[in-house]
Amino acid sequence: MSPKLIVVVGATGTQGGSVVDTFLKDPEWKVRGLTRNTSSASAEKLRTRGVEVVSANLGDPSSLVAAFAGADAIFSVTDFWGAFLDPANSSKPAPGQALVEWVYEYELQQGKNVLDAASQIPDLQRLVFSSLAHVSKWSRGKYTHVYHYDSKAMAVEYGRAAHPELWKKTSIIQLGYYLTNFLRMPQLVQITKDKEGVYNLASRLNPKTKLPMIATDEDTGLFVKALVDTEPGKNLITYREWMSLEEFIKVWSKVLGVKAKNVPFPDDFAWEGTPIELKRAIIEILAFCDEFGYQARDDPSVNHPKDLGIELKLGTVEEWIKKQDWSRFL
Ligand SMILES: NC(=O)c1ccc[n+]([C@@H]2O[C@H](COP(=O)([O-])OP(=O)(O)OC[C@H]3O[C@@H](n4cnc5c(N)ncnc54)[C@H](OP(=O)(O)O)[C@@H]3O)[C@@H](O)[C@H]2O)c1
Repeated sequence: MSPKLIVVVGATGTQGGSVVDTFLKDPEWKVRGLTRNTSSASAEKLRTRGVEVVSANLGDPSSLVAAFAGADAIFSVTDFWGAFLDPANSSKPAPGQALVEWVYEYELQQGKNVLDAASQIPDLQRLVFSSLAHVSKWSRGKYTHVYHYDSKAMAVEYGRAAHPELWKKTSIIQLGYYLTNFLRMPQLVQITKDKEGVYNLASRLNPKTKLPMIATDEDTGLFVKALVDTEPGKNLITYREWMSLEEFIKVWSKVLGVKAKNVPFPDDFAWEGTPIELKRAIIEILAFCDEFGYQARDDPSVNHPKDLGIELKLGTVEEWIKKQDWSRFL
């Protein structure tokens, strides 16, 4: 029997790259990876590993229909922050429109384009669509500036209403909190050393709030494969461990052999260089996690990994910490 085809949006990125890694290991599947630039070093690397690299742009519906042709499965992801931080987009908002509002519309349209294109692939068996919690809805209007969550959630609302046949073949994947945020996002958790030599991990988050912590590059593919192998209709929150900051700090200090504690986020944190909309989105999403849960715990459609009935070979947070280079903090 000839192998089945998975088409991977964002194949050169973190989520899509993980999906590529997982499916390349399975001889029952061949992999087509989409990128805007088929001659980049990342695209070339994918080709040498046996990926069919195809040009497509999430903003161009016809390129998606062509790239999805013949797919048995599709994984799709949209990238809010890439568009937000791209200087080419800074002049695009209409008069009176904030950039973040423009990117919301832009990412939502990209999600709709994926769903419209996937609905035109007759033999498609499964779409796995990367989304996040509908923050404005599940906070009942309290938090309305977390545009990078709501844009993805609104695309899901669109897909459910506009494409009922496609919806019978679709599962949603919600990526958990990237563990790499500890290394790359001081706006979320800041790591400093105090006079007594104790490491202070500062966050606005309540240290007891549990987060779905995920090693995105290692874990995403395993979850997507499970969603392809099981019945559709899932809305899966993904994580290797459901862990609070307090618990993370305990493991972190044990692995690194240092003393560490949680401290309140400094009022004088230098936000310079962080766009004001990003600051507001960060403050609101952390408050949302504290009050309503990262995945929106009131959303009855949310599934957890244990609900899949598939044993996933995930690592631990401790293993992830051991593999990272923390030298610039130490
Ligand atoms: N940080 C967190 O804790 C967290 C948690 C959950 C979800 N997220 C979400 O994760 C998303 C980013 O995913 P990621 O980490 O995989 O991103 P990434 O590593 O930055 O990769 C982005 C991918 O998207 C592709 N891409 C971007 N614009 C495109 C376009 N117009 N057409 C086609 N492809 C396009 C890029 O491909 P080319 O450049 O090769 O074209 C690249 O492969 C964001 O929307 C963010 O909100 C983040």
